[in-house]
Amino acid sequence: MKQILFQLDTDPIPNTFDTVVAYDGGADHVSCRGNVKPSTVGTMVDGAVFTRPPKQKKNTALFVTGSNMGEGEAVLASIRNHFFGDFRVSVMLDSNGSNTTAAAAVAYVGRHIDLRGTRAVVLAGTGPVGQRAGVMLAQEGAEVVLSSRRVDRAETACEAMHRRFKVDLIPAAAGDPAALRKVLEGANVLLATGAAGVQLLHESSWRDLPDLEILLDANATPPLGIEGIDLMDRATERHGKLCYGAIGFGSFKLEVHRACIAKLFESNDVVLDAPEIFALAKEMLAAR
Ligand SMILES: NC(=O)c1ccc[n+]([C@@H]2O[C@H](COP(=O)([O-])OP(=O)(O)OC[C@H]3O[C@@H](n4cnc5c(N)ncnc54)[C@H](OP(=O)(O)O)[C@@H]3O)[C@@H](O)[C@H]2O)c1
Repeated sequence: MKQILFQLDTDPIPNTFDTVVAYDGGADHVSCRGNVKPSTVGTMVDGAVFTRPPKQKKNTALFVTGSNMGEGEAVLASIRNHFFGDFRVSVMLDSNGSNTTAAAAVAYVGRHIDLRGTRAVVLAGTGPVGQRAGVMLAQEGAEVVLSSRRVDRAETACEAMHRRFKVDLIPAAAGDPAALRKVLEGANVLLATGAAGVQLLHESSWRDLPDLEILLDANATPPLGIEGIDLMDRATERHGKLCYGAIGFGSFKLEVHRACIAKLFESNDVVLDAPEIFALAKEMLAAR
């Protein structure tokens, strides 16, 4: 029986990146829908859960994508509310590559340092990737500062992650050089998750930070988010600190992403969100 993945995107035009990875992860057919909302996803769930006999339901799966984390979470919640008994299929949430990207980055960090008791800064952490990275770093025991150009946006993101995962992230403004310097004080880990093509940090702002051990930049589009580290860096030492560029950890992100898609077709009751995807990433890295 064919493995069918429904890509349910909260944006009007479904993301092609996620479609490609869905095929590479093993789906035989990917059906994409745009503009998916909690109020409209019900009929799509019905079509997925009522069509195949119990042993074959694992061959249908749902993948929630889109650029807005809150909208993706609401669609996932609505999907789960529609399931009952064995009338369910596996589902994954990865708005803007949030969970898979954050999981790959934080799993690499954990390979180098024990995060318990450390201070981690997620710079421009209000987007999907930054929010999820903040959660994963906090769940590993770090004190996490999540920054934004505007403190109210940071507060909103931290509150959303507290509601969803019961983690306490510290919101901070980093919109001007003085505020940025303050945010970076005492940081052991720095993960930049700013929008594509936006430089957040000059090399002179991080190279002499005495406590900083590891830096990662998720932005692959020039100019990079952190000046002075290379796109391809993977545990590359610069100024006495370990550096990871977006492609340096991005190839592992893609492996994790593909493994998640494959996992969806193993049974009909898998739910993949931040904790499950992070656990898988750590397991994959440990097995190397
Ligand atoms: N390496 C990989 O494998 C991989 C995979 C997926 C995504 N990515 C990359 O990961 C990064 C984060 O993705 P995302 O979807 O979470 O990002 P996003 O939502 O597009 O942006 C994250 C934050 O960047 C800040 N920002 C936007 N424009 C800015 C500007 N002009 N100056 C300063 N800050 C600005 C905003 O924060 P405030 O408005 O709150 O300041 C925004 O919430 C992106 O660069 C994306 O391309 C990498």
